Amino acid sequence: MIHDKTIDFIKSLYPNKNPIILHEPVFFGNEKKYMNDCIDSTFVSYVGKYVTQFEEMTSKYTGSKYAVAVVNGTAALQIALQIAGVKPDDEVITQSLTFVATVNAISHCGAKPVFIDVDKDTMGMSPEKLAYWLSKNTNYDKINKRTINQSTNQSISAIVPMHTFGFPCRINEIVEVANKYNIPVIEDSAESLGSLYKGKHTGTFGLAGVLSYNGNKTITTGGGGMIFTDDEEFAKKAKHITTTAKVPHKWEYIHDEVGYNYRMTNVTAAIGVAQMENLNEIIENKRQTAEKYRGFFQSYQSFNHSTIEFISEQAGSSSNYWLNCIQLENRKERDYFLEETNSNGVITRPIWRLMNKLDMYKDCQTGNLDNSDWLEDRIVNIPSGYRKQ
Ligand SMILES: Cc1ncc(COP(=O)(O)O)c(C=O)c1O
Repeated sequence: MIHDKTIDFIKSLYPNKNPIILHEPVFFGNEKKYMNDCIDSTFVSYVGKYVTQFEEMTSKYTGSKYAVAVVNGTAALQIALQIAGVKPDDEVITQSLTFVATVNAISHCGAKPVFIDVDKDTMGMSPEKLAYWLSKNTNYDKINKRTINQSTNQSISAIVPMHTFGFPCRINEIVEVANKYNIPVIEDSAESLGSLYKGKHTGTFGLAGVLSYNGNKTITTGGGGMIFTDDEEFAKKAKHITTTAKVPHKWEYIHDEVGYNYRMTNVTAAIGVAQMENLNEIIENKRQTAEKYRGFFQSYQSFNHSTIEFISEQAGSSSNYWLNCIQLENRKERDYFLEETNSNGVITRPIWRLMNKLDMYKDCQTGNLDNSDWLEDRIVNIPSGYRKQ
């Protein structure tokens, strides 16, 4: 076996686990206590203190002014896009290398995605490729202050960069480009809770950011999401339409627009509060694991025939190392690595099939996607969960 040393090393990081999965949730805090509190008090549903507490902890942690808890990250993205002004038949620019939920949320608004390439080093949207595509494919409608796609005549009403696997993309530069075209940025920071770009939390550069608390994320509530923003009106609107658009009244049921039941329950938020209490420790633990992987793969060449590169955070950014990534030499080496690890109790996964290659999105407009294609052939995620010490 070519990869036996790597497999042994990963097994030494996660002893007594078989198989070793990519990212296991951990509950070593007050989760049960707070859930019991919900049950004992009967506040298990939409009323209770934990939703507000979870929102306040998140806004404090991310440094954003407001946070609104919702059912999951996909719903968070959909609502953020709608409030940003995305309407049916509009177009939304995102990256081809992302998890399908980013693009599904665009579809849920009735809009069409346009796929732009990523940078090889961050695996997130490339500001240069974004600027190039906009300069070649759009006109600016000065009267309505909208950027229009020349080939479809539709408005481009949002840009959604994604911080892939927790590695911050060049979000400052992306927002600068977007501002020139008067297009709002909604950051898909579902994977990057705790990741910083130039000292500022990912998700706080554009109009709003979103988080996911799916079971495989850095912290989890079983399933859940968050919208966070500095814009008070945006936050109020997000709360309103995710809670059936009910107008406050002592007893009347009055709803002033078509709303959604996307609110997070008190039980879910209770888990979130307990998880937030341990977030710093979880991230520190994950960063230490990344350090161990970095050391291992640095000496890798000395005992193996091909190279494997460990992906590190870029200078000026700090990653939560949600999912650690390695880069194989080519697709054949990638597939060989996947085969050996997965058949020996170490779960590893390739990067997602590019969005423009999926049936439902294959006819969407794209820019040049060379880097995305290159990464799709080479990147593999390796086990990255919290390690009990
Ligand atoms: C990049 C990205 N966007 C959006 C989502 C959607 O989040 P959720 O699964 O909570 O709907 C996820 C995670 O699942 C994700 O990884």
